[in-house]
Amino acid sequence: MRPALLLVLGIGFVFSNRAAQGDPEKGRELFRSCSGCHNTGNDERKMGPSLRSLFGKVTLRNGRHADEENVREIVLDGFNGMPSFRYSFRPAEIDDLMAYLHTLKGRPGAPPAATGAGYFQSYCVRCHDPQSRNAAGPDLRGHYSQDWTAIVEDGHAGAPALREWLGENERKQLLEFLKTY
Ligand code: HEC
Ligand code: HEC
Repeated sequence: MRPALLLVLGIGFVFSNRAAQGDPEKGRELFRSCSGCHNTGNDERKMGPSLRSLFGKVTLRNGRHADEENVREIVLDGFNGMPSFRYSFRPAEIDDLMAYLHTLKGRPGAPPAATGAGYFQSYCVRCHDPQSRNAAGPDLRGHYSQDWTAIVEDGHAGAPALREWLGENERKQLLEFLKTY
């Protein structure tokens, strides 16, 4: 193997092991730079999406896996309205921040409000956010159709089957919300 390639592999190895070295408590302090735009205690969106279940997710809004590499890249380079933090932190601080972010792995949880709009916020908006150019699914405003009951209840395109998460009345509330959305 050529020395240059070995060097690249070596750097890759150090890079992928960094998270293990970070201090999550220091990272929590550094997260103050982020908390203006990101909740971690609930699923409400601020300017950016809640990070409460960041590492509990399968994919992130950019369509890529919710893993170390993807999150690190988003923080370093910025993403879709989020500024780059490449020059805001020293490399060791980025490791601390990553160690803290790894503690954010809640499951998609109890809706913030037991209303149709609340359920939409918890279960749907991450893929159907009309404000986001990177949304995986289409804008659902203004074209409700009967077929949507099945789409919502059975799940689709990576969305959970809501029968498994919500009772009948709650699902009805969500559909009522969509009718007037
Ligand atoms: C000025 C507001 C702002 C700040 C400050 C900010 N972000 Fe963001 N962040 C955003 C926006 C906007 C998005 C992407 C929005 C979208 O596509 O819906 C985002 C997306 C993300 C994502 C991807 C989430 C996902 O589910 O796809 C992560 C991870 C993230 N930010 C982490 C951080 C961290 C860590 C910090 C602090 C170092 C930070 N952000 C600071 C606005 C911000
Ligand atoms: C993981 C991403 C994801 C989540 C979460 C998600 N959707 Fe979707 N949705 C999609 C994608 C992608 C499409 C388009 C492709 C398809 O229909 O399979 C879609 C299509 C739809 C459609 C059809 C729209 C049309 O114009 O025909 C409806 C209705 C819908 N979603 C409702 C919902 C509701 C309600 C929720 C929350 C309970 C939800 N979706 C959650 C990704 C998602």
